[in-house]
Amino acid sequence: MKTLWCLLVVVLTFSGSFAVDRNNFKTCDQAGFCKRLRSFKPEKSQYTLDINSIILNGNVLLAEVTTIDTESDRRTVLWNYILKLSALEDSTFRVELNEKEPLYARYVTQLALQHEPRPDGINLVSKDNGKVVVTNNQGHKVVITAEPLKFEFYDKNGEVAVVLNENSQLLVEPLRKKREKTDDEDVNVVEVEEEGMWGENFKSHHDSKPRGNEAISLDVSFPDADQVYGIPEHTDRVHLATTTSGEPYRLYNLDVFEYELDSRMAIYGAIPVMYAHGTKHTVGVFWHNSAETWVDVVNYADSTVVSSLVNLVTGGQKRRVDARFMSESGIIDVFVMLGDTPADVFRQYTALTGVAPLPPRFSLAYHQSRWNYVDEGDVRSVDDNFDIHDIPADAIWLDIEYTDRKMYFTWDAEKFRHPSEMVANLTAKGRKLIVIIDPHIKREPGYFYHEDATDNGYYVKDKDGKDYEGWCWPGSSSYPDFLNPVVHDYYASRYSFDKFPGTSKDVHIWNDMNEPSVFNGPEITMPKDCRHYKPPENGVEGIGSFWEHRHVHNEYGLFYIRGTFDGMQARAPGQRPFILTRATFAGTQRYAAMWTGDNTAEWGFLAASVPMCISVAMSGVSFCGSDVGGFFKNPDAELMTRWYQAAAYQPFFRAHSHIETKRREPWLFEAATTGLLRDAVRRRYALLDLWYTLFFEHSRDGLPVMRPLFQQYPKEEATFTIDNEYLLGDRLLVRPVVESGVTSVKVYLPGADTQTLWYDVDSYQPHQANGYFTQEVNIAKTPVYQRGGSAVWRKERVRRSSSLMSHDPYTLVLALDWNNTSEGTLYIDDGETYDYKEKKYIYSKVKYTPEGITYSFIDDSASYPTRSWVERIVIAGLKTPPKTAKLSQNEKQTALLMTLHKGNDVLVIRKPGASMAKPWKITFSY
Ligand SMILES: *[C@@H]1O[C@H](CO)[C@@H](O)[C@H](O)[C@H]1NC(C)=O
Ligand SMILES: *[C@@H]1O[C@H](CO)[C@@H](O)[C@H](O)[C@H]1NC(C)=O
Ligand SMILES: *[C@@H]1O[C@H](CO)[C@@H](O)[C@H](O)[C@H]1NC(C)=O
Repeated sequence: MKTLWCLLVVVLTFSGSFAVDRNNFKTCDQAGFCKRLRSFKPEKSQYTLDINSIILNGNVLLAEVTTIDTESDRRTVLWNYILKLSALEDSTFRVELNEKEPLYARYVTQLALQHEPRPDGINLVSKDNGKVVVTNNQGHKVVITAEPLKFEFYDKNGEVAVVLNENSQLLVEPLRKKREKTDDEDVNVVEVEEEGMWGENFKSHHDSKPRGNEAISLDVSFPDADQVYGIPEHTDRVHLATTTSGEPYRLYNLDVFEYELDSRMAIYGAIPVMYAHGTKHTVGVFWHNSAETWVDVVNYADSTVVSSLVNLVTGGQKRRVDARFMSESGIIDVFVMLGDTPADVFRQYTALTGVAPLPPRFSLAYHQSRWNYVDEGDVRSVDDNFDIHDIPADAIWLDIEYTDRKMYFTWDAEKFRHPSEMVANLTAKGRKLIVIIDPHIKREPGYFYHEDATDNGYYVKDKDGKDYEGWCWPGSSSYPDFLNPVVHDYYASRYSFDKFPGTSKDVHIWNDMNEPSVFNGPEITMPKDCRHYKPPENGVEGIGSFWEHRHVHNEYGLFYIRGTFDGMQARAPGQRPFILTRATFAGTQRYAAMWTGDNTAEWGFLAASVPMCISVAMSGVSFCGSDVGGFFKNPDAELMTRWYQAAAYQPFFRAHSHIETKRREPWLFEAATTGLLRDAVRRRYALLDLWYTLFFEHSRDGLPVMRPLFQQYPKEEATFTIDNEYLLGDRLLVRPVVESGVTSVKVYLPGADTQTLWYDVDSYQPHQANGYFTQEVNIAKTPVYQRGGSAVWRKERVRRSSSLMSHDPYTLVLALDWNNTSEGTLYIDDGETYDYKEKKYIYSKVKYTPEGITYSFIDDSASYPTRSWVERIVIAGLKTPPKTAKLSQNEKQTALLMTLHKGNDVLVIRKPGASMAKPWKITFSY
């Protein structure tokens, strides 16, 4: 939503120059561990596996690892570690390395995995000549070299696909006791301790580091990779850049005011998964760690990498990418996913961290937000204006000002006197209300939440064990410790309708500021030495009895939204909740949609919304969008139009704006612009059933809804770096216009080798895939193409909201491929309950061949009493039209009327009238 604005900026106009204040955020050199680890470049890794210690237990290989002082002749053992290599289902391995006897337990990330990963079998093939060879049951081989320790993972064709510690950057800094220097100690014997070992400073902030240094690092090599992707959230390209001459990619959830484009700086989200793709295979690594993390990348094909290095590492063969993960704490815990296609590896990642559950259908429609709709009258007028201007809308949003002085779960008693009635007025038109609830709690005497939290010790503690106090929207604030199950339950129970009066099942939730944002904290977040709950253990006291914020930082926001999700489930068990979150981590998709935070009304931010959402979609979170129109500053009519047109084809479609911007609801522009915005929103509604079907399919297969081209065309090298266009499922190709004043754009059409046809959705004109072509665009045009061979169901009647469209008739658009066929799926249910789990839905397939069209149920045992029927069938790319068409349904046969549009080979079957509740068939004769 916003950051320091109100506090820092009293008088500032939006024409002022916008730029992030980089001084507020650390560079790698200013983060002690990043500086330390980045300069750690041993000749040879000190880590050695003791082959004789190997034990196989179920799907796990256990072994001892030591670090050995190889410089000295005596080969002294420096430290002992335990290695665990687990074989997991679906071509995945897990490597864990922890201290054998750590001084305190080291933190293992808690919420990223949806459940304990499912095992595969592991087989010990050999352990001689200093190498251990194991295989899983799917025949993937792993070769572990004992000294120095190295892991090679092979793809299913027997080629090395992922190597760990090839560059000797494995490091687990052992936990040590702070030495109190005594007088009689010989100063020469005292170990030399690293600078900052027991405390470091950033600006005016001191981090006390009670456990000292505890960082970890590991290098990962991808021989044969052309590009690596993932590790969002950043504002640069989808394929990751070589970082050697600049900052590494940083993963640390931060509220970055006026974040900048083309940057590897950390922003709100941190999802530590990386994919490597080449023409041979696609693989991935998931770095299971919630501490601050920096990632270096070297792509040997990048021109910035000096050729002597390329020669040294790859023997002149440029294909190869090396990466290196550096985290401030935790254990080495990395999942290696062996693909071998992009779709395989995306699925493997969601098998670990979960998929997004089927969202309520309304959440895929259009949302209208602003900081702030000021009172009930404002909400009513916005609501009414959508109807007056014939623009559909599904939700109106309330930002922080609806509360009683920023106390969440309360209403401003003057401005929002009748919240229940306000909600009822919206729901009468099928619309919802979405209100913001943030994690910070106002320290206000008499505020129930603050009193309960204080009395019961629910707040995160500072380094001395007192309730931590920071500064946020309400002023002095504290932050509940959602790691504590009691706090989780307390917070979740706040959502019950009796405790949050004025809400109903039609009020959904926006969780913002959950990085967490702390205006006066280091880097605008919580100090790392704050203390979180750790389950009590016998005999553990002092430093070992709590977790520090540094261990959990990147998953704090996930703990928070899990509480929201559980609360919304409990308040109305039969209803699917909708939650929007700003902070993200691995696993966020199980609870919430995300958006790209406080962007700016500039063309560059519109353009950046595309790669940013593709990147998070590859990292499990398909439900992504940006503030439409831009949060800061005022968009002109052209930018506003292009943003609506682009967002109409992005998963989360919400207009939102800063409190100091001009009002910009769609009807406040000139009539021509309002017309274009209306058209964009209506296009979204016409395709809602496609969106809903794609999200249903994601909930089954874990694949991104918004896909990079290389997912569907993995052998086509040009697609590896295209991130200004994308696919929706495997059906639509979208190339939004994100440039000002253009009359044409270049569009890449993939699939030339299979003679793929792409039909312009406006004209049904087919284009044969052949790389780039030039598409002319006027201000009304968004280049979108339907793949030949696919079927798309549309609903073309304009309603006020999506729920009023539930039983509307369909238009079926069949786009034929070279073989004169096409097919596609459709999912239908009630759109809001969990009845689909009791088989109350339709999941169908429609298939066209020159003989006819069949509509059949994929899930035979499921059904749903839809009253929808088929209003129109459009067949594009039809060369030889049939003479007659006959519909068969329920033993009845009906002759159908057809119109042929010769100019573009389109046949329209008028009013077939078939019910969508039962299978049907249309037969052609020639
Ligand atoms: C609800 O709608 C009615 C009828 O339009 C209106 O009179 C009333 O003021 C609305 N209530 C609120 C709280 O907006
Ligand atoms: C056409 O059909 C053939 C045979 O079924 C198949 O191999 C080919 O991939 C299809 N071509 C297209 C463009 O769908
Ligand atoms: C597709 O239909 C056209 C026109 O009817 C025909 O000439 C062509 O052979 C068909 N293609 C295939 C692969 O059957």
